[in-house]
Amino acid sequence: MMKIDNYAVFGQPISHSKSPRIHTLFAEQTGQLMDYAAQEVSAENFTAATTHFFAEGGKGLNCTVPLKELAWQYADHLTERARLAKAVNTLTRQADGSILGDNTDGIGLLNDLTVNHGIELKGVKILILGAGGATRGIVRPLLEQQPSALIIANRNIGKAQAIAADFTALGAVQACDYASLVDRQFDLIINATSASLSGDLPPLPEELLSAGGSCYDLAYANQATAFVKWGLTHDAVHSLDGLGMLVEQAAEAFCIWRSVRPHTAPVIGLLNDERNVNSTNR
Ligand code: ATR
Repeated sequence: MMKIDNYAVFGQPISHSKSPRIHTLFAEQTGQLMDYAAQEVSAENFTAATTHFFAEGGKGLNCTVPLKELAWQYADHLTERARLAKAVNTLTRQADGSILGDNTDGIGLLNDLTVNHGIELKGVKILILGAGGATRGIVRPLLEQQPSALIIANRNIGKAQAIAADFTALGAVQACDYASLVDRQFDLIINATSASLSGDLPPLPEELLSAGGSCYDLAYANQATAFVKWGLTHDAVHSLDGLGMLVEQAAEAFCIWRSVRPHTAPVIGLLNDERNVNSTNR
């Protein structure tokens, strides 16, 4: 009997993860025979669970909150983008048994912004809110698009400065605190704080978004997040949450594992339809 290739996502909490659904849809679409499961794994159990998964023949693993930094430490080798991000969301068992760590979050965001929504990044002013692991994963691909400015704002300015210093060789990136945003304007504001899902927002000046600008929340939910609502009430042309990025980062991981690129648009469309039904039923 042919053995099915096994993949999984580890994280905590994990029960609401959409990754098994996304990868199952990709596998159906591309005719790949594979299984993809979600497993609740705490930071304490990460090393043992990951070693067990690969020892049992697991082919690839996605790691989400709070495991991305641990996955970065676990990997035997890192891609350049994962090395810089200091975070790994995709682990792959290589032919020689070693584990390669990659980070597909940044390219996932980029594809959603530029391909799915046609948002131009070259020459625009970009603001990132927050300076945690999520920010680290997106700075390089954004800088590669040559924005005219990339500013990272954070409550703890030291964390923003540390990220800016790590990427400064790749382009114009600077750090600031929220008070310094007064009288400044940006064409694209990306929320990478963990505040949005609990309904919280950093203090943002009313005039922060340029006319014709867009907002993007890396978080996603069945209803509009606090930051998506902020964008809508401040006349953003696009005020998007991170569902598209989630599907795009998954597509990149799927492509690494299966050497086939799935079509993301039908999967994003389906997940959007499902959450619209869910949110109206609540
Ligand atoms: P992640 O890996 O998802 O980025 P993280 O590393 O815990 O998570 O980072 C969370 C980010 O959200 C941090 O930048 C944090 O700001 P501080 O570094 O100043 O703590 C930011 N954050 C969380 N709650 C926030 C809030 N209510 N207002 C503003 N920023 C917030």
